[in-house]
Amino acid sequence: MKTAVLFGAGQAGAAVLRLLYGYEPLCFADNDEKKRGGEFCSLPVLSAAEALALGPDCVFICVTDAARAAQMRAQLDGLGCAAEVRDALSLRVFDARAAAARLLAERISARGVGGDAAELGVYRGEFAALINAALPERRLHLFDTFTGFDAADVAAERALGLSAAGTGDFSATARETVERRLPRPEQAVFHVGRFPESFAGCEGLRFCLVSIDADLYAPTAAALPLFYDRLSIGGAIIVHDAFGLQYPGAGRALEEFCAARGLTPVPAADIHGSAILVKQGG
Ligand SMILES: C[S@@+](CC[C@H](N)C(=O)[O-])C[C@H]1O[C@@H](n2cnc3c(N)ncnc32)[C@H](O)[C@@H]1O
Repeated sequence: MKTAVLFGAGQAGAAVLRLLYGYEPLCFADNDEKKRGGEFCSLPVLSAAEALALGPDCVFICVTDAARAAQMRAQLDGLGCAAEVRDALSLRVFDARAAAARLLAERISARGVGGDAAELGVYRGEFAALINAALPERRLHLFDTFTGFDAADVAAERALGLSAAGTGDFSATARETVERRLPRPEQAVFHVGRFPESFAGCEGLRFCLVSIDADLYAPTAAALPLFYDRLSIGGAIIVHDAFGLQYPGAGRALEEFCAARGLTPVPAADIHGSAILVKQGG
């Protein structure tokens, strides 16, 4: 079997390691000295030079930023890298979460699973547009402050020792930005403000497909029971960052919810670390 070094011991590296097929991973390489000497995903973390000395057949550059990937490729050239070099930039384009959402939407439509679609954490509407296109006949409820992370949620995040989120992160958006992006904007219902307060008035709704992408512990923990209890049989919730490293609060909230309800989240195995919950009947 061919051997591989994964250059970049972060979220993209973890995703590439899980997706790797037909290669024996030897180690991670990383330019951050603080990561070196230890392990990441049960593999040693070495410098790029040390990793190349192992003679891998292939080096996978595990970042999703094109400029950084180019720098790392140049660094490998400078070290006289003889291995094939591949990057993970295509994971941004060929997105397992997008594919999973489209397949779930097809199934929901074909089976006549009832209810509206929704997203908590809309930002500029990239994923909301995908849901809107995949379920064009359904209402799409969009929940966001549209002023970025709320101070109370950030305080909770700090108190729990979770992410380094800052108040107002993701504020560079507006309702109009999202409206312009949606292929069927007439289906959108905007719930502007802090979740869960912005859920007021939605108690009587049913949902078929929900994306929870609020990054932080507090809104994710509040959203899971509110949406899951209103999810139709055969409906699904996609939780962003459930297996991610940057915002561990989303994963903690999902773990707690699943433990309390006896549920098992299914990994989407995407670069975002998403998980899927399908409401089962019976
Ligand atoms: C990562 S962004 C969402 C990205 C988006 N789904 C996309 O496809 O590009 C996270 C969003 O969650 C929103 N958010 C976080 N906590 C919130 C809360 N308590 N209430 C409402 N929105 C919240 C932020 O304002 C931000 O726009």
